[in-house]
Amino acid sequence: MLVFVLAMPLLILLPARVDSLSKRWVDGRLIRIARLGSAEATSALMSGDRAAARVLLARIGSTCGAVRGALLLPVGSPLARWNWNGSPGASIACRSGLELVVREGGVAVVCVPMRARAELAGTLALAFDGTELQTQPRQTAMWLATGAGFALLIGIVAAYLIGTVVARPLWQTTEVAERIAGGDFTASNDLQTWRQDEAGALARAFECMLGRLYEHQLALARKNVLLGDQLAELRRTQEQLVVADRRISVGRLAAGVAHEVNNPLAYVRANLDFVASSLSSISHDRGGGAERGARDLVAQVEQAIGDACHGTDRIRQIVQGLKSFSHSDDDRRERLRLSVPLEAAIAMAAGEIKQRARLVRCYQDAPEVEASEVRLSQVFLNLLINAGQAIPPGASDRHTVTVTIRTSADGCAVVEVQDTGCGIPHEIREKLFQAFFTTKPAGAGTGLGLSISQGIVHALGGRIEVESTVGRGSTFRVVLPPAPPTPVVAEAPTGRPMKGEAKSLLVVDDEPLVGNALERALGSEFRVVAEASAASALARLAIDRFHLVLCDLAMPDMSGPEFHAELRRSFPEVAERVIFMTGGAFSPAIERFASTWPGALLEKPVDMERLRKLIAGA
Ligand SMILES: Nc1ncnc2c1ncn2[C@@H]1O[C@H](COP(=O)(O)OP(=O)(O)OP(=O)(O)O)[C@@H](O)[C@H]1O
Ligand SMILES: [Mg+2]
Repeated sequence: MLVFVLAMPLLILLPARVDSLSKRWVDGRLIRIARLGSAEATSALMSGDRAAARVLLARIGSTCGAVRGALLLPVGSPLARWNWNGSPGASIACRSGLELVVREGGVAVVCVPMRARAELAGTLALAFDGTELQTQPRQTAMWLATGAGFALLIGIVAAYLIGTVVARPLWQTTEVAERIAGGDFTASNDLQTWRQDEAGALARAFECMLGRLYEHQLALARKNVLLGDQLAELRRTQEQLVVADRRISVGRLAAGVAHEVNNPLAYVRANLDFVASSLSSISHDRGGGAERGARDLVAQVEQAIGDACHGTDRIRQIVQGLKSFSHSDDDRRERLRLSVPLEAAIAMAAGEIKQRARLVRCYQDAPEVEASEVRLSQVFLNLLINAGQAIPPGASDRHTVTVTIRTSADGCAVVEVQDTGCGIPHEIREKLFQAFFTTKPAGAGTGLGLSISQGIVHALGGRIEVESTVGRGSTFRVVLPPAPPTPVVAEAPTGRPMKGEAKSLLVVDDEPLVGNALERALGSEFRVVAEASAASALARLAIDRFHLVLCDLAMPDMSGPEFHAELRRSFPEVAERVIFMTGGAFSPAIERFASTWPGALLEKPVDMERLRKLIAGA
């Protein structure tokens, strides 16, 4: 369209312009022809020979294609004429002395002045047939117009072709690109990839680029999802760390509390033991019906003291459990009966299980294992809590959590925790031991219990097995290798009290009541001396001999390890026969000492039976 608008004025103006140009070109040519003739005619004009002038005119005229000619004098009258009847109409123009072309009735008359010695000598006038003269310029104009028309046509066709072949596909590709940029990814279907020209190549390249873009976008989207998951997991971990941190703080507090509780508990327990054994000897000494009432009373007091002892035992176990959890990183391994860590865990979990089920113990013979008591307690506690949580609350009479200790067919030590809870669906069995896998609501479970437990058991060379039926319950089985056989104990060193001498014990504890209680509880069987500081104990050792020294680890003036170092210096033979007792809350130095101490280490309140055996065997 634009091409047409531009071409129309060109088509209108071009012929007129060509006509005027051709007229000017014809006039110039006529003048040049006449000039040639005038050079020849000047001498004829000067001679005034009319006949010769006429012959000359005829020759010039026929040579250059003129139809008539005249040789005019300066005044305008003709000297000679050729085919020219009457006065040449251009005579007035000839008098002007200028070269000019005059058109008169289809004839073009050319007047060319002739000069002699700078004076106007006359004019040569030649008349040409105007029609013939017009023919050539018209033809030229026609050819030009035709050429212009063709050029226009070619321009239009070229514009159309450029428009359809090149520009339109480019516009289309641009439009698709804009739609894609606007988020409409289906627009790529409109790309003309089927074309075999450059536009098609461009579309294909664009499509290829889009393909890569999609791939990158897809990868980016996947990474975004992954990032989202990781972020969520990070947040979960953060929450769990907060909980874990709180637990660690509680654990640390528990250690302090345990220490505070254990000291009084140690002498309460020892005194109860003493009272119980005194009462029982009184009741056995007495006889006769008159004293039956008193005996009954003594029996009741014995019963009450027995119950109190049982109570202190339970408190001891709970405190021991708390202590265990305050030493979460303690991997000190020792020979253990499985019931020790299991009971510590039961003491901790009993409260949780009581609400939902009856706890049943089924302890059979099992080999000792070599493990950290703390860590095994952690494993059993996890299993017990899981078992309890698998049982809905409110039906404790119908549910049980059965704890079994036994020996497997291949001689391993086995602990089973069996519940009658909801069971574990088959599809999540694979994930049970994965860190952070939990089906419990946020805040109720971290999903770390089983994964940590498995890590601990694997480190001990054991394994955890699971059996479960949905709706009927689950059994988690911890299988541990038996501890290697005990090395033969070396012969006791010399420097001990004389053979046959009553077994003696020196108790060193800054809490005098602990020493007093032990004196009272063991005094009837052994010679027991209590000292309330390490310094007084050293002074006592300078003058007395003992089969065994029982020393508290944490004392204000001189700690257990410092006391032992002093013994090694001053009484090396006694240093071999020291056992330590502890109420918890170690300092790092004492903890290090305790973890490498090769001898016996008793927990407060002291297990009296074990202590008796140790003294007896010293
Ligand atoms: N005795 C069981 N009965 C049924 N499902 C159990 C039992 N023990 C474990 N599970 C399943 O295994 C999942 C993982 O247990 P795990 O002890 O690792 O974490 P948790 O108990 O959820 O959290 P926590 O870190 O507090 O122990 C539990 O969420 C539960 O779905
Ligand atoms: Mg758990």
